[in-house]
Amino acid sequence: PVLVVDFGAQYAQLIARRVREANVYSEIVPSTLSVEEITAKQPSAVILSGGPSSVYAPDAPAVDPALFDTGVPVFGICYGFQAMAQALGGRVDRTGVREYGATELSVADGGGRLLADLPDTLGVWMSHGDSVAQAPPGFSVTATSPGAPIAAFEDTDRKLAGVQYHPEVVHSEHGQEVLRRFLHDVAGLPGDWTSAEILTEQVAAIRERIGDKKVICGLSGGVDSAVAAALVHRAVGDQLTCVFVDHGLLRAGEREQVERDYVAATGIKLVTVDARERFLDALAGVTDPETKRKIIGREFIRVFEQAAADVSQSEGGVEFLVQGTLYPDVVESGGGTGTATIKSHHNVGGLPDDLTFALVEPLRTLFKDEVRALGAELGLPSAIVGRQPFPGPGLGIRIIGAVDAERLEVLRAADAIVREELTAAGLDQDIWQCPVVLLADVRSVGVQGDGRTYGHPIVLRPVSSEDAMTADWSRLPYDLLARISNRITGEVTEVNRVVLDITSKPPGTIEWE
Ligand code: XMP
Repeated sequence: PVLVVDFGAQYAQLIARRVREANVYSEIVPSTLSVEEITAKQPSAVILSGGPSSVYAPDAPAVDPALFDTGVPVFGICYGFQAMAQALGGRVDRTGVREYGATELSVADGGGRLLADLPDTLGVWMSHGDSVAQAPPGFSVTATSPGAPIAAFEDTDRKLAGVQYHPEVVHSEHGQEVLRRFLHDVAGLPGDWTSAEILTEQVAAIRERIGDKKVICGLSGGVDSAVAAALVHRAVGDQLTCVFVDHGLLRAGEREQVERDYVAATGIKLVTVDARERFLDALAGVTDPETKRKIIGREFIRVFEQAAADVSQSEGGVEFLVQGTLYPDVVESGGGTGTATIKSHHNVGGLPDDLTFALVEPLRTLFKDEVRALGAELGLPSAIVGRQPFPGPGLGIRIIGAVDAERLEVLRAADAIVREELTAAGLDQDIWQCPVVLLADVRSVGVQGDGRTYGHPIVLRPVSSEDAMTADWSRLPYDLLARISNRITGEVTEVNRVVLDITSKPPGTIEWE
């Protein structure tokens, strides 16, 4: 793999993704690894990421110069560029000139291998205080910027290069091309890591792991569990049984999508548990959001455990459980350092640790967009692989107030209209998601026909986001909003008002509860 050494900034994941976009497999490792530990991983190249430190800070993570004697190609970015310069005998100065955000890069000396034949000046994104003042011996300087006399250097004979700016961010022009050139042209990597390749590798690995044992998977209707299960099914066929819990908090058509479309596309063996009444009973009268979440999580575990026990009995013993854990979860929970714990809130309802199954996590090296590509490779319908995120607790946390069957029907009807109109407008791939929220304890006065109404508001919460950590409200076209509003108030009699949530995250979360 290409190892992305994480110096503690938020960029390592982005770099790892960009490397994969160049069809080269990458993994993130902490900067505390020794050169021996790095070489033990047999890297095809190493990328030193940006980081918040100054190379002069007392505890600044350094780069062991021995790394450059291993013959492994190395690319330094931002802090990694400076650490590389210092380790190789160049000079880094505290110039006092800070360069943050957009700046202009001037290509020098023909641009070398990385910048040749690109425009003479490039808009790039910088974030640094110190600057490289002298390149290490053997390196040629290939770019400068107003705040960095040396903004890029390379020694392509030794397969070493670096840039002061962030080629991985979209604001850096030709950034992906520069990364691609390092990987393909300088490091000489083939770029053959594709969905088809991942599929073949994973199927073999799963077969090896599971052998002739039985395996179970909980389907949520979301992308991750759907792809994980389809992958395992491709590997071991009917040794896999899937369990789908209908907790009654699903959106219109979701159960059918799993039971009909998903099964048709995969041929998977599916058990649906109808637990709608049980969840409604448990949620009766509960208004506090955290209490709702706890109840839904608890009931989910109980229902799933019972279903798993039943399946195990009918199948003559189940040893493995499939989970759709993704790479960001692994990295964020310290998995990059070899200690993997699963963040409970990422899993449907949060399955307990004491389940008596061994975990199979075929997606734990993949990012979300790669999971979608793999799903397409597996032949899953686009309605499933293109699905927007939907919270495990479902509509239960989109009714502000107590949850009951009537309120769920109202919300379901409004939500279906919103999804239909967003799809018809061709916008569902442009927004991250659009929660539709029923303010069940709020009423307002309206007029419909000739009569006074006293109904409930529906809130639209369309957001755009990269990763759900931060989000902005989506500027949906007014005519689309008007159509949605007219349809909801016209078709859902209990609703007489539609409002738009124009709060970014932070301060507002995406969901209302
Ligand atoms: P918030 O509301 O925290 O949501 O801004 C961030 C993202 O996470 C989703 N979400 C959940 N997903 N189980 C899930 O699987 C949950 O309990 C849960 N709560 C929120 C939310 O839809 C958004 O995409």
